[in-house]
Amino acid sequence: MKEKTNIYFDQIKAKYAADRTVSHKLHLQACEYLPGGDTRTATFFLPFPNFIEYGKGAYLYDVDGHKLLDFQNNYTALIHGHGHPQTVEAVQKQIALGSAYAAPFEKQIALSALLTERFPGIDLIRYTNSGTEANMNALRIARAYTGKAKILKTEGGYHGTTDVFEASVDPNIKKAGTLDQIKVIPESRGVSANALKDVLVVPFNDIERTRKVIEEHYDEIACVIIEPIMGSAGQITPDIEYLKFLREITTKYNIVLIFDEVVTNRLSLGGAQKYYGITPDLTTLGKVIGGGTPVGAFGGKREIMELYDPRNKQMYHSGTFNGNAVTMAAGLATMQAYDQAAVDHVNGLGDLFAEEVLKVYDRLGLDMQVLGAGSIRNILFTNKEVKQYRDVASAHEELNKILYLDLLTKGVFDAERGMFCMSTAMTRDDILFGTAMIEEALKDMLPIIEEEAPELIK
Ligand SMILES: Cc1ncc(COP(=O)(O)O)c(C=O)c1O
Repeated sequence: MKEKTNIYFDQIKAKYAADRTVSHKLHLQACEYLPGGDTRTATFFLPFPNFIEYGKGAYLYDVDGHKLLDFQNNYTALIHGHGHPQTVEAVQKQIALGSAYAAPFEKQIALSALLTERFPGIDLIRYTNSGTEANMNALRIARAYTGKAKILKTEGGYHGTTDVFEASVDPNIKKAGTLDQIKVIPESRGVSANALKDVLVVPFNDIERTRKVIEEHYDEIACVIIEPIMGSAGQITPDIEYLKFLREITTKYNIVLIFDEVVTNRLSLGGAQKYYGITPDLTTLGKVIGGGTPVGAFGGKREIMELYDPRNKQMYHSGTFNGNAVTMAAGLATMQAYDQAAVDHVNGLGDLFAEEVLKVYDRLGLDMQVLGAGSIRNILFTNKEVKQYRDVASAHEELNKILYLDLLTKGVFDAERGMFCMSTAMTRDDILFGTAMIEEALKDMLPIIEEEAPELIK
């Protein structure tokens, strides 16, 4: 970071902190009990996170009395915002009748019927408590079905926090080899080097390089797992040709194609697979399908998923809270309310957001773009065409951090990496408020953008 940028960032941090004395006090208290006062790395930021008192509709209310328009929606997990009335009612009714039973119950059938009907790639489904677990189980069944062990993922692809998936999620590209020979880099200390031996990494949207790796290793690859839109990397949309290619080559070589739709499931009633018209063998879900409670699910073709049929005694999958009553009640109420009109509403808000931000860039003379699709969009400080992780890795991340903190001081809560996600609780006026605040923040940032990223000034 250059000097002027550093000074500006310090000023914004000071402005943020000065107005958040209660949050700061709570942060110091939390540090007594939780490492860094935190239990989720993705929600931590400097100087200290904003403690929330409660949420209602499209807004969060923090402990220092600020009202924040919530474009975070718990990292895309809340499709209806906070305290959605039908979901609240369903959970209240259910919890009074018991939160979890070691036995099946009817709401599991109802939610499964809804999801299998909506998602072309899901005949049968099972539940977990997180998207991470859903992916772990999808990988396991892919291995069992194919008799092979390796996994192929994209550089920058995020599939949760467990060894094998924490490969090349956000690598330093200086250490990650060339695109022709991508090095697999562990995301965290403690990730097993042995587990990473099972991982092959390719660039997203790059048919030729992906083909080469698959053709060299097809007899070892159990599954190709991708996010149809690369979310954590910055909402990088796919070339349809790339998805079609993956469908064809995985079929040819008996490789299971997994779409990680933990985030993209909100894109249409049937997720990205319906939106783009490509059907995977297995699909993993999470976030919105739990109606704001912990959830994950994996499902797919009948002949693969039947390996989990206990009557076949092939595979074991348990979990104390899998398909628990509260999650099923919340998920069912939420997904029933997420009908076509609701999909159109949030996707329309996403379009409005992108149009307005592009107008802001125009007015300020910025050569920047808005990534993403539907109800999830991303602001990145780059003017490069973004096709894969390395195009994002060279963007100006520090400017995103400054924008994030400045927006919090202006009553707007997005994700530090520039992700803005719409909920059905939002109106067009909310979006216009959000984009007006983005304009104010970017306008103030112009001198430092000029210093840090002169290529973005037209
Ligand atoms: C694409 C994707 N897959 C999997 C996960 C992991 O889900 P969870 O955090 O529920 O374990 C996430 C979480 O953000 C995700 O974005």
